[in-house]
Amino acid sequence: AHGRGRSGLSFTPIAPVPNTVDDLTVPEGYDWSPIIRWGDPLFTDSPEFDPLEQTPEAQASQFGYNSDYLDILQDRGGRTGVLVNNHEYTNEANMFPADQLGDLERVARVAMAAHGMSVVEIARTGPGRPWSYVRGGSRNRRITLSTPFAVDGPAAGSDLLKTRDDPTGTVVLGTQNNCAGGTTPWGTVLSGEENFNQYFKGNGSAEQKRYGISTDDPSRRWHEVDPRFDSTLPGYENEPHRFGWVVEIDPQDPSSTPVKHTSLGRFKHEGANVRVAEDGTVVAYSGDDERFDYLYKFVSAKKYVEGDRAHNMTLLAEGNLYVAQFTGDTAAEIDGSGRLPSDGAFDGSGRWLPLVVDGESVVEGMSVEEVLVFTRLAADKAGATKMDRPEDVEPSPLTGKLYVALTNNTQRGTAGKAGPDEANPRTQNRDGHVIELTERNNRAAALEFDWNILLVAGDPAKNASTYFSGYPAQKVSPISCPDNLAFDSAGNLWITTDGAPGTIGYNDGMYKVGLTGRQRGNVEQFLAVPQDAECCGPVVHDRERMVYVAVQHPGEDGSFEEPRSYFPDYVVPTRQGDGEWALPRPSVAQVFPVGRDGE
Ligand code: FEO
Ligand code: CA
Ligand code: CA
Ligand code: CA
Repeated sequence: AHGRGRSGLSFTPIAPVPNTVDDLTVPEGYDWSPIIRWGDPLFTDSPEFDPLEQTPEAQASQFGYNSDYLDILQDRGGRTGVLVNNHEYTNEANMFPADQLGDLERVARVAMAAHGMSVVEIARTGPGRPWSYVRGGSRNRRITLSTPFAVDGPAAGSDLLKTRDDPTGTVVLGTQNNCAGGTTPWGTVLSGEENFNQYFKGNGSAEQKRYGISTDDPSRRWHEVDPRFDSTLPGYENEPHRFGWVVEIDPQDPSSTPVKHTSLGRFKHEGANVRVAEDGTVVAYSGDDERFDYLYKFVSAKKYVEGDRAHNMTLLAEGNLYVAQFTGDTAAEIDGSGRLPSDGAFDGSGRWLPLVVDGESVVEGMSVEEVLVFTRLAADKAGATKMDRPEDVEPSPLTGKLYVALTNNTQRGTAGKAGPDEANPRTQNRDGHVIELTERNNRAAALEFDWNILLVAGDPAKNASTYFSGYPAQKVSPISCPDNLAFDSAGNLWITTDGAPGTIGYNDGMYKVGLTGRQRGNVEQFLAVPQDAECCGPVVHDRERMVYVAVQHPGEDGSFEEPRSYFPDYVVPTRQGDGEWALPRPSVAQVFPVGRDGE
């Protein structure tokens, strides 16, 4: 039995890895292997991966690109399970030979099929052993931009969601830019539709501008292949409104219809994570990943019923939506330097400002449908606090405290932009920070909260504005751009990063952070991902000493002809070799103690 803070996963932290290393670096005594890679066939009749002969049909039956959110859901007995993974976006220059990039129809349709999500069965010989994925597993599923989604909540059927192809405003084809997510207490997976704006050709409306939808031609030119990506065309004005939601899928039932929940609002959802409140209502937290955007909370109208999956899958359809307002307790002293105020802490209180209550808008001049479709504009009116890019937002399953990854905001305090405040205390915040938020009386549905900053990230050796809750800065692993969060069974926080190569000069990685006692604020690096990759989807099964990670866009700054990474296979044959390709392949990897093989 392990006490709080004592993870079953013991390790010696790795040294930071320079950003030119093309390897997955794990601690001494650990080994790793890929479970599944971009292009691996999911079904018995799926074609083998062949990057020279890609088709949309093949890609739709193979594992997608750029793995982000990840969970490993074990069945009873621990020998089988499902792997659930988001495929956030595509890097066409790494996916296709240069002489094929001009074939827009093919490239765009393959890319559409490489977006979305995968559900893949996994199997192993026993608990603690490495997994293999099961080709042809009965729960295997690809969700792409063609998969029909139902829409629920107050904006379902709204005129704002109707298009030429869907005059009901209740059925959307596909999900895209699925970044982070969360597994619900009832076993479904929530996934956030994040940077959907970049795929649409915009019409210049104020609402579209607030969502970053440009009137320029999108670089992927999908609007030339599928008219729904051109919102200037009659009948497609509302298509962008059909993305930017939290979606829920049932990974146990490949025939189930996934759902877009309008109750949680529309913005660049990083993801969503659920906590069950004392009274049985459920609370879902979600960040809007944009500089100066907001942190949100949804509180369900109905109550969680243990074991009633069908009922619980309706909980996110109906409830109240709030946005966070942070107040510092020594705000006048915050000068943007990152120096602690005189009371020794970046901390204060806050309120959840209501946007929708009991199915009605409480924002002046906006209907409930408008609040949910144009949630950013509603939150602007409510006076929410502009944050430094809220990424993953996750409550600790042990304490209920909420952790908010604020990845960075290099525009904080620059000309014409909001200046520092106690919750976002650095000007030009390059390295990001993490807030710890405690609901008042630790009641999940409370309308007030207290908060403090757990850590202000950076490389303490080169940056005087780092802070680790009082833990000696010279003893921590350097960390920059926190993105995804997870917890181990002992309640330690785990953080993965996205952007460290360009800020502190090290490869992105995965870090354990103590939250209590003398370990509070201690950052220890567990692994580093290969050159150019972002580290995503941390899953920590510390009782088995197993860790899982999604390696997104390895070698991103290279090309098909000149790869900057050979992850995960590290074979460099001619491209016509025996089914082995000298290409970086975004993958899900597992980390386990040396000597544990799959037999
Ligand atoms: Fe896709 Fe906010 O990271
Ligand atoms: Ca303070
Ligand atoms: Ca992310
Ligand atoms: Ca990110």
